[in-house]
Amino acid sequence: MNTQILDINPKSLAIAAGLIREGQVVAMPTETVYGLAANALDTEAVKNIFEAKQRPADNPLIVHIWQKEQAYPLCHWTSTADLLAQAFWPGPLTLLLNKKELVPAMVTAGLDTVAIRLPQHAGALTFLKTCNLPLAAPSANRSGRPSPTSAQHVYDDLAGRIPLILDGGSCRVGLESTVLDISGDVPLILRPGFVTAEQIAMVTGSCEVADSVMRPLTTGEQAPSPGMRHRHYAPRGKLTIFDGEAFKVAETIISFYDRQPNACILAMHQHLPLYGDRLVLDLGEDAASAAHRLFYLLRSLDKQGIVHIYCEALPQTGLGLAVMNRLVRAAEFDIVPV
Ligand code: TXA
Ligand code: MG
Repeated sequence: MNTQILDINPKSLAIAAGLIREGQVVAMPTETVYGLAANALDTEAVKNIFEAKQRPADNPLIVHIWQKEQAYPLCHWTSTADLLAQAFWPGPLTLLLNKKELVPAMVTAGLDTVAIRLPQHAGALTFLKTCNLPLAAPSANRSGRPSPTSAQHVYDDLAGRIPLILDGGSCRVGLESTVLDISGDVPLILRPGFVTAEQIAMVTGSCEVADSVMRPLTTGEQAPSPGMRHRHYAPRGKLTIFDGEAFKVAETIISFYDRQPNACILAMHQHLPLYGDRLVLDLGEDAASAAHRLFYLLRSLDKQGIVHIYCEALPQTGLGLAVMNRLVRAAEFDIVPV
């Protein structure tokens, strides 16, 4: 199959919507990461998503909509959902609600809840509106690889497996949405993202974070969000995270780096001088810029054939929690306290 990359305009949108109506998949930009979309109401179409990205069938998908009212036939909408939608949609917040019959079991991997999100990206919204169907879309990477934040990343992973990538430029946020379960009494974050627990609690009065967010699951443990169970976000090189006071972290990373060929360091901008003329990639000045750059940097390390990646830990506050949630999984929980 030939994979086309097209800028978003009326002509490419018509082609893309035609493919969706035929039950095919199309990669689309969002403000978080690129998604691989198909008609959420068509089991056969959804099957094509799982096949293209080789995703395990027990990992449910997020359903994307362009206006809140599209959620009503899909789930049992609540007043809490309404408050959150008012505050954060369009935006990087996914809501888990009790599903209705209309949503095929393949989308939710047989669960009783369905994940719904209204993205904040003009191209995505126009595409969703043109299709006028709810679109199931996981991140448009090969399963297990870092999520794609540009059309080229999608192409690198899925060329020959999908017909079309809509190119909406580089993703503003760069990390996937916050996944929030509001099917219980207290809103519970299953995957941290750009919208933080503090921001959600301002709207709902309370918000908890699942403790599995920052630790590996124990054998046989049920994952609150199935995506957390699978190997994730992994670069090809071996990633190790160093956590502690900045000078000590730099000293320890340097001692590892200097013993390894094909090594690279990921560090916050303020700490770059600590590493001299070693190969260091800049995570930026704060957690937002680290979020924006992380997947792009991990992919660029793969291209350079880096074998050992040594990365500074970020404080797990605000958006730092979301960055660390992805980093510890990319490192397969190899964290060195210093
Ligand atoms: O920003 C994003 O959320 C991007 C863009 C494309 O919208 N999408 C994305 O999808 O990251 P994906 O499939 O890579 O991640 C969806 C996460 C997975 O961890 C999945 O297990 C979880 O959401 N999820 C989806 N439905 C769920 C459900 N009913 N219960 C628990 N977790 C669910
Ligand atoms: Mg994903």
